[in-house]
Amino acid sequence: MKITDVPVVQRFIRFCEDGWNQGWHERNGGNLTYRLTQAETDALRPFFDRVPRPWTDMGVQGTNLAGAYFLATGSGKYFRNVPLDAADCLCVVEIDSTGSRYRVVWGLVNGGRPTSEFPSHFMNHSVRARATQGECRVIYHAHPANITALTFVLPLTDRDFSRALWKSETECPVVFPGGVGVVEWMVPGGAEIALATSKKMEEYDAVVWAHHGLFASGPDFDTTFGLMHTIEKAAQIYVLALGCGQGIRQTIPDDGLRAIAREFGVTIREAFLD
Ligand code: 13P
Ligand code: ZN
Repeated sequence: MKITDVPVVQRFIRFCEDGWNQGWHERNGGNLTYRLTQAETDALRPFFDRVPRPWTDMGVQGTNLAGAYFLATGSGKYFRNVPLDAADCLCVVEIDSTGSRYRVVWGLVNGGRPTSEFPSHFMNHSVRARATQGECRVIYHAHPANITALTFVLPLTDRDFSRALWKSETECPVVFPGGVGVVEWMVPGGAEIALATSKKMEEYDAVVWAHHGLFASGPDFDTTFGLMHTIEKAAQIYVLALGCGQGIRQTIPDDGLRAIAREFGVTIREAFLD
């Protein structure tokens, strides 16, 4: 039995392949982390290094995730290569008992470290796990072109983005009735953007990074990939409509959004409706 035969690893690899096929992961763009269950950690433990690598400080702290284990993409690794060589591109990391350091216990066999966005992933996991009573397990960052394009033309507010996306595709208020958060442009890869993003993640399960990409969260791989896909598709429709050059002539009315929410039994963020 190889580690790539373990179902959770197979699902993680397929996710990376799907993201690559969508065109959201040029070069090493984007990253994925999954918080393993106890049973999944036990299934992977036989593959762990006999001597774990040194602890690394994350610059952020999430005490509710002390002792957790994550599957993660490596920094500088290409999503395109994950199905070809998972042991080179991926790793399992263990969080220490203070929730502020990690160490690699499997993977990255040719050297390297977890994604440079691990502080953002970890803080988002911490916040979303708390907000969902432990349900959230997946944090996904990608570079889809259309949602990023909108950060050049829409005001960088949660309200403006949520409304534009909800009104671009009828399914949107059902898939993300809470809307999306927006973080202004910041230098990626550190504690500062991690804290700004996780603050938004207290309220939203998806957060746009201006001029960069999108973070999505969810309880499982399908829901999280689906959220990323739905938001990017709505953004694409909006960009296509704007590209016709006539402006937006008509759209879904606010009372229409309320009616969808009623019909589908979801609570839409009323503060964003007129
Ligand atoms: P990593 O290769 O370190 O995961 O970085 C890619 C990226 O998208 C940074 O925001
Ligand atoms: Zn990025």
